[in-house]
Amino acid sequence: MAATKVIAVVGATGAQGGGLVRAILEDSGTSYQARALTRNTGSDKAAELARQGAEVVAADLDNRDSLVTAFKGAFGAYCVTNFWEHFSPEKELQQAANLAAAAKEAGLQHVIWSTLEDTRERVPLDDDRMPTLMEHYKVPHFDAKGEANQYFRDQGVPTTFLLTSFYWDNFIHFGMGPQPGPDGTLAIAFPMGDKKLPGIAVGDIGRCAYGIFCHDDACIDKTLGIAGEHLTGDEMAAALTEALGQTVRYNAVTPEFYRGLGFPGAEDLGNMFQFKRDFNDQFCGIRDLDFSRALNPNLQTFADWLAANKDLIPL
Ligand SMILES: NC(=O)c1ccc[n+]([C@@H]2O[C@H](COP(=O)([O-])OP(=O)(O)OC[C@H]3O[C@@H](n4cnc5c(N)ncnc54)[C@H](OP(=O)(O)O)[C@@H]3O)[C@@H](O)[C@H]2O)c1
Repeated sequence: MAATKVIAVVGATGAQGGGLVRAILEDSGTSYQARALTRNTGSDKAAELARQGAEVVAADLDNRDSLVTAFKGAFGAYCVTNFWEHFSPEKELQQAANLAAAAKEAGLQHVIWSTLEDTRERVPLDDDRMPTLMEHYKVPHFDAKGEANQYFRDQGVPTTFLLTSFYWDNFIHFGMGPQPGPDGTLAIAFPMGDKKLPGIAVGDIGRCAYGIFCHDDACIDKTLGIAGEHLTGDEMAAALTEALGQTVRYNAVTPEFYRGLGFPGAEDLGNMFQFKRDFNDQFCGIRDLDFSRALNPNLQTFADWLAANKDLIPL
């Protein structure tokens, strides 16, 4: 039997990391073991991970030394930051710097950094097609992650840069589900025009990440994009209509309208969707569906995800 390889999973109590922990635990023949990192080892979620067989270890992204301790003795780590907890790109950058430095110090052999595009490479700050936000960013929660890629390179950490996709789970948890319009008909609204939005069941991000660790050598130093399907707003609305048994329309609002919706992060998300719309070929192209399925043979389509989750969508 091959020697056990411990994978330290940041965000193990959350959506992306939780999927990876489950993927490792579900593969009974694996030589990998899951080490779940959390700020609160006493939480119900942490207890559940321990009950399922994960090693649960305390660590805080704001405390580099705690990350070094949590990474020590591990083979690899899944590194993710949660922008939406604080809405601060600078904090996200510092947390990523802590992760990269700790990975180096602990001598990890393979890190997956859950990243996104630095949109400023295609839309410089002086490009006024979309407003600059927080002085230095176009899409703060993308740009900080993309900028942080360099920290892992600078540290010489063997890293896979994983470009994730829009979670279909946002229809349940992120307030993006169908809403009734003035005539009572349900509608989803995105500023994507007729372009395709790469989407994924969030659990499949973890399963793809597990596939990346299993294909280790082929994935280190690569930027890899994953998605379950690329769908237009009309295609998503049609699938929702079919699954929910009631009509759902797609409302192709403008980015300006979306940015003005007023909820926390609306401007960031308005710019994000505009970026996905305006650079659609590149954004979809790097999120290769066949490759995602090769990493994770059980990759779900939107219809698969809906069949399992439609009752959880608040209407
Ligand atoms: N929603 C989407 O469609 C989408 C798509 C692509 C990428 N993303 C990105 O996904 C990221 C969020 O990932 P997620 O959805 O997996 O998050 P999530 O489900 O909200 O969970 C957040 C996780 O991060 C951990 N965490 C947060 N702050 C921490 C800290 N200071 N130290 C240690 N752990 C910390 C939490 O652990 P404890 O609370 O247990 O400590 C928890 O496990 C965001 O940055 C977002 O930009 C989202």
